[in-house]
Amino acid sequence: MTTSRIAGFYNLTLDERRAKLADASRLTPELLAAWTSGGLSPESADPMIENVVGLHSLPLGIGLNFQVNGRDVLVPMVIEEPSVVAGASFMAKLARAGGGFHATTSEPEMIGQMQVINLPNINEARLKIYEHKAELLATADEIDPVLKKFGGGARDIEVRIIESSPIGTFIVVHLIYDVRDAMGANAVNTACEKLAPQIEAITGGRVHLRILSNLADRRLARARCTVPMQELEIAGQNGILSHTGESVRDGIIAAWAFAASDPYRAATHNKGIMNGVDAVVIATGNDWRAIEAGAHAYAARTGRYTSLSTWGKDADGNLVGALEMPMAVGIVGGATKVHPAAQAAVKLMGVKTASELAEIIVSVGLAQNLAALRALATEGIQRGHMTLHARQVAIAAGAEGEMIEKVAAQMVAEKVVRSDRAEEILKGYTGTQVHT
Ligand code: MEV
Repeated sequence: MTTSRIAGFYNLTLDERRAKLADASRLTPELLAAWTSGGLSPESADPMIENVVGLHSLPLGIGLNFQVNGRDVLVPMVIEEPSVVAGASFMAKLARAGGGFHATTSEPEMIGQMQVINLPNINEARLKIYEHKAELLATADEIDPVLKKFGGGARDIEVRIIESSPIGTFIVVHLIYDVRDAMGANAVNTACEKLAPQIEAITGGRVHLRILSNLADRRLARARCTVPMQELEIAGQNGILSHTGESVRDGIIAAWAFAASDPYRAATHNKGIMNGVDAVVIATGNDWRAIEAGAHAYAARTGRYTSLSTWGKDADGNLVGALEMPMAVGIVGGATKVHPAAQAAVKLMGVKTASELAEIIVSVGLAQNLAALRALATEGIQRGHMTLHARQVAIAAGAEGEMIEKVAAQMVAEKVVRSDRAEEILKGYTGTQVHT
């Protein structure tokens, strides 16, 4: 069985980490090699989009310590921002002490929208569509025999009346489509285009837009975790307690209350969640713009933009967190299918369905949220950020090997992380002029 706990991973060299990862995941180094090469060649990228001239790379790190629904999972995360992978891994360790993440998904149902305008009678059109629901569903059901074979297909029709729009009143027909392990945009868009003439014939109106909605609020993923209060204790210098578990827990809850009540804070709070979510979405070749759009629209579903997560305490005083959000990800089709690095990501996590992938992603989002709130509620976010940033500045100033840590540590201690200071410190150590 895969273990997601790999002691000292951080301190290993790149090659050592790859060997440990292959070992822990029981996957062959060849399979994971897609991440060494970047996976995609310019030739294989050429048919994916237009005007291709090359590739663009990002770091891929491994989120450790995750346990989702009792299963250990090593999580591939693609992101350029320091502290995200470390933060998620650390929080997964704390949550693990409380039983890990418990996650579920709704059915993988997407919504396709058809805007019907120029209607002779709005209310009559609405009812007529419901009268023809069975035949509309039958038409939509035919468009993807493969989806149907795997248990997907058209599920329902809903009609909404949009009043007082800038062009007056019109109706919107929602096609509810179970897309199983696909992201679903292609199937749903095709089905909507196919249904349009039938809806026009039924209503006497004109079907204008026919497109999937990214507010995938029928395709939700939910995760919760419990962090035992003692796991939240923070030791200061010389091992003396600097923050009690209780104070950290209450600080996290107060930080969440800020996001729950203020859209300015909620935007940043949710951005922290998306740091984790997007990193896995990108690693698996999924459409992160769709996930972003769905997340923020869902966060505003009551008419007031708010936090996607909630934090509180249980009867024993432990910290409990939950995250619920739309999660339209697939493991078949699109870039997930053609990108070798995305395939390696799916293999590493051992997911067999899109729902399993969604459950991991939402757990990572919750872990990431906890990492940010814990840091913000205690020492602030900059110290962790600065340590990694300082390393990058040290490297840019010419530090190599063990000098990287020495120069970075001194800059952090001085709270001055700048290239000119890095050069000075480096010069002090080596006694030589640094050229950058
Ligand atoms: C930075 O990328 C994310 C945070 O701003 C999230 C938050 O404030 O909760 C740290």
